[in-house]
Amino acid sequence: MSSFIEDLIARKVFNNRGEETIEVDVVTTSGFGRASAPAGKSRGKAEVLPFPQDSVDEAIKKIEEFVAPELAGLNADSQEEIDEILHELDGCSKNFKNIGGSAAFAISLANAEAAANSHGLLMYQFLGGNSATSLPYPLGNCISGGQHATGKSPDIQEYLAFPHGAETFLEAVAANAKIHKKIGDALKEKSNTFNGGKSDEGAWIANIDTIDAFDVISKVCDDVSNELDFECGFGLDVAASSLWNAKESKYVYSNEGVKRDSGEQLEYMRELIEKYHLAYVEDPFHEEDFKSFAELTRKTRNCLICGDDLFTTNTERLNNGIRINAGNAIIIKVNQIGTLSDAARTIETAQSNGYIPVISHRSGDTCDWHIAHLAVAYKCPVIKTGVVEGTRIAKLNELIRIEHFLGNRAKMADLKIR
Ligand code: PGA
Ligand code: ZN
Repeated sequence: MSSFIEDLIARKVFNNRGEETIEVDVVTTSGFGRASAPAGKSRGKAEVLPFPQDSVDEAIKKIEEFVAPELAGLNADSQEEIDEILHELDGCSKNFKNIGGSAAFAISLANAEAAANSHGLLMYQFLGGNSATSLPYPLGNCISGGQHATGKSPDIQEYLAFPHGAETFLEAVAANAKIHKKIGDALKEKSNTFNGGKSDEGAWIANIDTIDAFDVISKVCDDVSNELDFECGFGLDVAASSLWNAKESKYVYSNEGVKRDSGEQLEYMRELIEKYHLAYVEDPFHEEDFKSFAELTRKTRNCLICGDDLFTTNTERLNNGIRINAGNAIIIKVNQIGTLSDAARTIETAQSNGYIPVISHRSGDTCDWHIAHLAVAYKCPVIKTGVVEGTRIAKLNELIRIEHFLGNRAKMADLKIR
């Protein structure tokens, strides 16, 4: 079956925040693919630029004028070649400032889906082949703080349930849903101003202390572990770049009313990991502090120390980390780097150096489910995509379908928490 690109159509759609974004259809001679770009709120400085002149209309215009005519007639199977052409059409700007990272993302993902569809395959089968049979463990945001919340909520951006003892993906998703619900009940008891409000990612927003949030999630995870008879741990996304005040050289915890210098931050993170047996900590330090990542990684056991803003899915930045063992896990957000081939290379670099790739949604997202397929295709042992809320459920349910479809070939990823 041939999969030559016949047409590329770009349009404006909306994400879960009601912000404009771009969606692209790729039509081939025998198939079709569609993808829309997500958006971050606590974005890393090294991420590519989402839109030229901050405008979705401008991105659509560029696709229609420059990109679509160049891609017409090419074979959608040649993903790397197409992604390379996207870089060339952008003038190899490093940050996709000319066509915009969101346009590159949507074209790249829509093309991969169109190629799969042209061969009568699902995306995970096309990209991952026969060996793509393992399901990731879901990290699910239950309590929002930092830039993702309002009012007097915790300083830490995300408190994430992590049922890493589950035997199936369905079981893991059910555990996260139970934990999320019980945390809602506990918050109702704890705070008389709690009114059931949720963030963009579907996590609860409450006026509670940073430390109270630990006690709530830790107790609920213990209870649910006992009830379900498998380990439901939890972790954090500190998103420490949002706390870092460069002028003062301090992390400012305004809810706690505390400022910490780099040494104190390191000690605080180490204490939290030990006290709460954290299985996952993302961005415990600001995005340029590779050294502290290395030191925390050296000083802790049985915890994924993950870089998001630190690495921004960028191979060069990851290599800087690898050189000094900064962290042992990396967040993969394709829209941080632009194209699927760039992200795939970063995943490969991570895996060949013992780093765990954690495929991730963005806080501003659409109902696209491609990251579900990427998790299975590229053997990412962890997926971070919330617990409830439509754009999160779209991805979780797609993984449930993949697990169901794989039947007795399906297995959970081989994940050793180190
Ligand atoms: P963002 O944040 O999608 O709002 O950038 C999510 C994260 O920091 O992981
Ligand atoms: Zn993050």
